[in-house]
Amino acid sequence: MIGHKIRQHRTELSISQAALAAEFSITVEALRNIEKDIGTIQTLQTVLSGLELELTGLPLIEGLGEQLKSIRQSRKHSQRHVCEMTGLTQPTLINLEKGRGRLSSFYAVLTFYKTSLSVRKQRRLHYKQGATNSWNTSKDFLEKIYAVIPVFDLDPATNADSYVVAETHFYEEHDGLKQPRNAKNVYLNPPYSTLGTWVAKAHEEFYNGNAETIVALLPCRTNTEYFHTLITPSADVLFIQKRLRFGEARQQAPFASMLVVWSRTNIIDEFAKVITGTILRKHEIAAVAE
Ligand SMILES: C[S@@+](CC[C@H](N)C(=O)[O-])C[C@H]1O[C@@H](n2cnc3c(N)ncnc32)[C@H](O)[C@@H]1O
Repeated sequence: MIGHKIRQHRTELSISQAALAAEFSITVEALRNIEKDIGTIQTLQTVLSGLELELTGLPLIEGLGEQLKSIRQSRKHSQRHVCEMTGLTQPTLINLEKGRGRLSSFYAVLTFYKTSLSVRKQRRLHYKQGATNSWNTSKDFLEKIYAVIPVFDLDPATNADSYVVAETHFYEEHDGLKQPRNAKNVYLNPPYSTLGTWVAKAHEEFYNGNAETIVALLPCRTNTEYFHTLITPSADVLFIQKRLRFGEARQQAPFASMLVVWSRTNIIDEFAKVITGTILRKHEIAAVAE
């Protein structure tokens, strides 16, 4: 179906299965399976979202389950009819439409609807919903950030739909990775396909004295090398208790997030007053290591 396209995309990015699996907090076997069109819808969703890809041939709404449901409803088919035609049970179909279940069942429904699937870079979702499928920071979450730091000088990775307010924004065409920070306060929510590179840049710029405070909103991937080598020794981390909503999405993201703060002050304590979670302080790590 589309596993080989995902594999093709990954190899074009020169990322190994092991590195990508670590980046997405899934096992190498799960990623290998997705590239062979086996596994679960949840894993496929994680891989597609992380690589900023979407499936073609499906309605432009959020989530594979919602897309499946929308196809069925647009044909005015009952769940019972689809089950009769595909051999699936009704609980299986209900689960699929909630974005859960096996890919074989998901593909069975799409085959019934003769959907020709492929993958492409994510585009804007349906305008009526005003949503985008990139992990843009929501207005609600930004309010909490601004309560602590009212003005940011730089947002080094952004797009036209973002709500982040800063003096300077770098878009993909400027390549924020190549630009110096030269900023007092930086707000970073980088593209999920190259998180490690963005964390390395943030770390470097902080230690070069090019940024006084860098606040990064990142998916909580504690099994990555950069988390242990570049984040925990040098930044304070606030593990956010609730999964966040991104952009204008109504649903919570399928992953946990963390706020990573490089700063020479204890500003993390101020964030913890407005965002519920648990703090991991850099000096606590240092104390353990001694
Ligand atoms: C996760 S989104 C977050 C956007 C924004 N910072 C926010 O929080 O709302 C990351 C954005 O970085 C953009 N991007 C990708 N590569 C980039 C690059 N090399 N330089 C600047 N921006 C980039 C992508 O287009 C994507 O929209």
